[in-house]
Amino acid sequence: MSTVTQKAYQWLDARLSISAWQAMAEKKTVPHHEFSVWYYMGGIALVLLMVQVATGGLLMVYYIPEIASAHASILKINTQIDFGWFIRSLHSWGANLMILGLFFHLFSTYFMKAYRAPREITWLTGLGLLVLCFAFGFTGYLLPWDEMAFFATKVGIDITSKTPIIGEYMATLFRGGPEVSQVTLSRFFVIHVFVLPASLLGLLGIHLLLVQLHGMSEPKVFRERPKEQQSVEKFFPTFVLKDLMIWMLVLNVLAAAATLAPWGLGPEADPFAPAPAGIKPEWYFLAMFQILKMIPAYVGPIEGEHVGMLLFGLVGALFAAIPFLDRHGEGKNHHLISEAAKWFGIVVLAGFIIFTIWGMLE
Ligand code: HEM
Repeated sequence: MSTVTQKAYQWLDARLSISAWQAMAEKKTVPHHEFSVWYYMGGIALVLLMVQVATGGLLMVYYIPEIASAHASILKINTQIDFGWFIRSLHSWGANLMILGLFFHLFSTYFMKAYRAPREITWLTGLGLLVLCFAFGFTGYLLPWDEMAFFATKVGIDITSKTPIIGEYMATLFRGGPEVSQVTLSRFFVIHVFVLPASLLGLLGIHLLLVQLHGMSEPKVFRERPKEQQSVEKFFPTFVLKDLMIWMLVLNVLAAAATLAPWGLGPEADPFAPAPAGIKPEWYFLAMFQILKMIPAYVGPIEGEHVGMLLFGLVGALFAAIPFLDRHGEGKNHHLISEAAKWFGIVVLAGFIIFTIWGMLE
């Protein structure tokens, strides 16, 4: 380091404690084993999130959140603004790839049992982040105000209203009246560009800080190795550099998808037209949508959709409770719980994949 950079470093270090942060990053190690590839998934979600923030900010320059102009403003971005189509396509493809990355991240940390102590809060903040990302997807989908988005949102809010106890209240809060209207668009816009980003920032800060504090979890295959075979690599700079290389790859895939298959735009929504055939939500809601369609109108005295929402709520609650049920330990009971947790994960994942594909084919 030259004297000038050294002086600048010392000045900043005295104010920002850079060396303490650096020491924390250098102390952290990443275990090396056959499942190490899954350690990259959180980082992939992170880089895609950065793309969403940058492209979302640019889209806001031209997007108009008014039902008379929303569709036309997207059309303008697509056809008249230099590289507008590319930015919009990056944002739409980025959202979908990010959610796909998050599913990989969720299930890989689940099956590696990374939720066990001391990472319970890392897991819970992660689940919170997933809910926020679903909400990003749901609110963003309506913004172009095209036919499919309009009717899918209508159906989505109707389904939300079937959540026991709070459903009706939530539906009215989102819709802002009896119908999907300007009020709905305004609310979705504010939720999408302000409420969700602000909430996400806080939750993500805690999530990432905890990951740094605890270091990466060690799966059983690693822990059971003799000490001399437990090879680790430094988080900084080794793993960070590998992370960066994967990020380059992901950004290339995203740019290729955005260019080769630019995101389309359906015809403008007409609230008075009959709903078109084959309304479908985004793919990540499709499994739930498909299951709800299959449940009969009434199960005993209870409305079928209420039963469906209760079922999804139960799965969500079990996911939230898993770090407190399946803990480190010894003995037969512990082994049984651990196996039950694994099979629960397998059933949920298999169900999710099967019903999503089924929904796509219908
Ligand atoms: C915006 C969403 C999210 C971002 C940007 C994010 C980011 C990250 C990053 C960068 C890591 C460290 C590297 C890695 O293990 O992959 C991590 C770790 C972790 N994440 Fe997330 N995450 C998100 C959502 C989630 C979700 C949905 C879950 C599951 C419910 C989750 C649970 C965890 C756990 C348990 C760890 C610790 C892994 C270990 O120590 O092995 N995260 N996250």
